[in-house]
Amino acid sequence: KKPAGAPDPKLAKPVSKVGIIGAGLMASQFALLFLRRLQVPVVITDLDQARVDKAVAGIRDEIEALRAKGRVDGDTAKRLSALIAGTVDKADFADCDWVIEAVFEELSVKQQVFAEVEPHLSETAVIATNTSSLSVEQIGATLAHPERLVGFHFFNPVAVMPLIEVVRTPSTDDATLATAMRVAKDLRKNAVITRDTPGFVVNRILAKLLGEAMHAVEQGTPFETVVEAQRPFGFPMDPFVLLDLVGLKVGAHVLDTHHGAFPDRFFESAALHELAEEGVLLEKDGKGNARGIDKRARKIV
Ligand code: 3HC
Repeated sequence: KKPAGAPDPKLAKPVSKVGIIGAGLMASQFALLFLRRLQVPVVITDLDQARVDKAVAGIRDEIEALRAKGRVDGDTAKRLSALIAGTVDKADFADCDWVIEAVFEELSVKQQVFAEVEPHLSETAVIATNTSSLSVEQIGATLAHPERLVGFHFFNPVAVMPLIEVVRTPSTDDATLATAMRVAKDLRKNAVITRDTPGFVVNRILAKLLGEAMHAVEQGTPFETVVEAQRPFGFPMDPFVLLDLVGLKVGAHVLDTHHGAFPDRFFESAALHELAEEGVLLEKDGKGNARGIDKRARKIV
């Protein structure tokens, strides 16, 4: 079934090389997905060679782990490892048909990385941003070709979450949108097309859930009561485990963005900022092992 608002799929442009800007955890996760599902060269860049090398090594380790688990065979693993390359030279993006960024969630940073890369791109390249709550239109405001920009929002963990939010701005043209829909399909994800509003759809809902959960504990409800009380909804993770997964800094940023856009409807959480600053994990030990609510979290909240 054609998703609501989707353009004619025939307008989609082929993607034979992928460029990724930002070599952090999220970017590394989707670099692996592009490699596995599209099986085309993927080039990844960041501020310095050390970060790039670390990301490439990490992605190759993940490919090896998939091989060891029997998820990909030996030949495929070798081929995928050879398809990933790291660079600090933006000219290496010249033959990329699909470029996506996952750098720090700050408007000026996103605009700056695109300003560095866009002059090297071909006339037909599609430019995507994995922003989770900035305005895609504003990110594109400094592009020479904002019609080629689309939001392409992945969820954590990228390998298993089935959804992509494809964000259309008033400038995005049909060929760009159709390409984004095709790429999502090739990645074997469900895509929904959303308006370019703060938090799109998913984070708007998530900000309510996480914000209310944090607000409840800040008002004196014990963490455990919130965990127990939300259980009947059947969420796969409780709000605090979900915060650990997305990262407390990212979570705090999502709450701030929503509070900024809709101050009467969303809370910001001072405690969450403090917990993020202190590097506290709420409920899990960082390797996914449950250990109950961290003592430091109780003290801070
Ligand atoms: N990376 C790769 N694969 C993973 C993984 C990870 N981090 N975590 C789990 N998996 C895989 C497992 O290998 C397993 O695969 P298999 O069935 O092929 O063996 C499968 O996922 C299921 O894993 P488990 O049985 O161990 O675990 P669960 O049944 O508990 O499911 C989960 C794990 C899918 C992560 C589930 O807990 C879940 O859906 N949680 C909610 C996550 C969520 O809401 N994410 C969105 C966050 S918001 C966001 O990212 C937006 C941002 O802008 C803030």
